[in-house]
Parts: sequence; structure tokens; C-alpha cells
Amino acid sequence: MIKIAPSILSADFTRLGEEIKTIENADYLHFDVMDGLYVPNISIGLPVLESVRKITAMTLEAHLMIMSPSRYAARFAQAGADVVEFHVEAETPENTAAAIAELHSLGKKAGLSLNPATPAEALLPYIDSLDIILVMTVEPGFGGQGFIAGMLPKIAKLRAIIDERKPGCELAVDGGINETTARQCVDAGADVLVAGTEIFSNPDRPAIIARLRNANNNIAPI
Ligand code: DX5
Ligand code: ZN
Repeated sequence: MIKIAPSILSADFTRLGEEIKTIENADYLHFDVMDGLYVPNISIGLPVLESVRKITAMTLEAHLMIMSPSRYAARFAQAGADVVEFHVEAETPENTAAAIAELHSLGKKAGLSLNPATPAEALLPYIDSLDIILVMTVEPGFGGQGFIAGMLPKIAKLRAIIDERKPGCELAVDGGINETTARQCVDAGADVLVAGTEIFSNPDRPAIIARLRNANNNIAPI
């Protein structure tokens, strides 16, 4: 079963509560946090996540695109995130392991994200403790960018690593996901699709979410 995670980065923030109500048939709510240092953009943070937590029962995943994310992983969990994902490039190995353990001690799920230039093998030291892996299929920082097709072999490699080492770990892709790239990612082994522009630019949110979820089943019968 493919899971869909709408990224509210592409929502109308003046009507955020109403926007979230339109995507509640999705599986996760993807909440992008940017600090202007790790990525060249600043988005939303703890007070907004606390507000969102009050108005939806959806599973909230906080995607931290910030420097030294171990400083804030537990804060986002305590503010209401069910899953906290942060970048393996942004933290030391010691702090990465400690932040994953801290999230688990709070009863939350932990994920690591990989930039396009970072190889799959960077996650091997942590694979046994991960609940989700988030493969960036664009350079992090902005919605609306084009999918980097060169990430498909990395997705396939991570699928093989997960199947061998941590079968329960989810494999998510983030950036440039539309109906075509969704199918490519699912074929390569992804099981969670993050999508911002494709969902929020579509007036019928439940329909586009359903189409993305069925991305690998859309082949016409012979
Ligand atoms: C980019 C963010 C993504 C972004 C995806 O740095 O991590 O979650 O919102 O947006 P689209 O789907 O428009 O590429
Ligand atoms: Zn994201």
C-alpha cells in the first residue's frame, strides 16, 4: 500500500486549517522546516506545528532541513510531530544516533533524509534504528522543482538495503512528485510519496491523492 504525504509548504498559509481539511484522506501530513542555513530558505516552525496539531488527527511528519537538528528533534516531537525526519549531512554521527534514540524514548518515529549528492550507504550505520528514510528527489529548500531522475537507482538500492536489514522501515521520496514520477519511484521501491505542488495546485485534492496512491496500478489492461 502506497502512502501519500502532502507537503503543506505548497498550501495557502492564510487558510492553512481549511487547506489541511482538504487533504485528510492522505496518510501523513508533511511539515517542512527550514532554517535559512542548511537550505537557502526559511519556512515554518514550532508554533505553526503546535497549531496544526490542534486541528487534525493526521500523522504529522516534521522534515527538519536545519543545521545540527539534534538540537530540535525532541522539541518538534513534543510539539506534536509523530515522526521527525532530519538530514544525515547536517549532524555528527554521535548526535544523529542520540537524536534517533531520544525520539524513540518519546514514543515517536525517527527518520533520516538524504540529499541528492549523498549516497545510500551513508545510512548504513543507522539502518537498524530507522522507521523511515526520506530520499530527496530535488535539492532541498523549495517546492515546485523538477524531479531528479538520477535518484531512481538510489531508491532501488535503498529498497534492497531495507528489505535485507530493516523490512519495517518506510522508504519515502520528496520533491518533484507528480503522477509520472510517482510511478517511477514506486517501481524503484518507494512506498511513501511526498507531494506539495502536485496536490495543492489541484482543485480536487482527494482525487489527486487517490491517483498518486494508485500510481503503480494505472497501466491500462491489455
Ligand atoms: C523541499 C521540501 C519538499 C517540497 C516538495 O525542500 O522538502 O517537501 O515541499 O514540494 P514539491 O512536491 O512541489 O516538489
Ligand atoms: Zn520535505
